[in-house]
Amino acid sequence: MAESIFISSGTGKEEKYQQLLPQVAVLTSGESDLIANLANITAALKYGMGFFWVGFYLVSPTPDPSPKGSGIPAKKELVLGPFQGPVACTRIGYGKGVCGTCWKEETTIIVEDVDKFPGHIACSAESKSEIVLPVFNRNKEVVMVLDIDSDTINNFDTIDKYYLMQVVNLIENKL
Ligand code: SME
Repeated sequence: MAESIFISSGTGKEEKYQQLLPQVAVLTSGESDLIANLANITAALKYGMGFFWVGFYLVSPTPDPSPKGSGIPAKKELVLGPFQGPVACTRIGYGKGVCGTCWKEETTIIVEDVDKFPGHIACSAESKSEIVLPVFNRNKEVVMVLDIDSDTINNFDTIDKYYLMQVVNLIENKL
C-alpha cells in the first residue's frame, strides 16, 4: 500500500474528514503496532486537516522515587506520545490542563479559547483552541488522550468531535 494521504483541495471541513477517515482506516488496518499507528494517525490528521498540533498523551506510570518493593502503588500521569507539530510539554497530571481534565472526566472537551480555560497548559503561545478526546481500553479505562490544537480561536465543534471519535474508535478496536 502506498503510504500517502490525499485530500482534494477546496473542500470544507466535513468533506475533508470524510475523505480522510477511510484512508486512516486503510493506513492502520494492516499494522498491529500501537505506536506506529498513533504516529501515522497524527501525521494524517496534521497534514490532512491542517491542524497546528496533533498528538497523543499516554497514561503511563510516574517514575517512582521510592525503593523497589516499597508497596506504594505507582502513580500515573499522561506522557507525551507520537505527535506532529512544535515540541510540547512531556508530562501532564491527572485533572491538570485540558488533557488531564479529559482523562479525569472521561469525556471529550472542546475549548473555544484556551485563555478562558482555567488551568490550561500552554505548550505554545500560538495555540488558541483545542479539542481533547479520551481513548478507552476494553475495560473502559482511559489509556490515552488525543489532543488537537488550532492556531485560530473557536476552531472545533461537534463536527470535529463526531469524526475524531471515529478515529478514536479505530484505535480502540485495536487495543
Ligand atoms: N494544552 C494542553 C497541553 C498539551 S499541548 O496543547 C500540546 C492542556 O492544557 O492539557
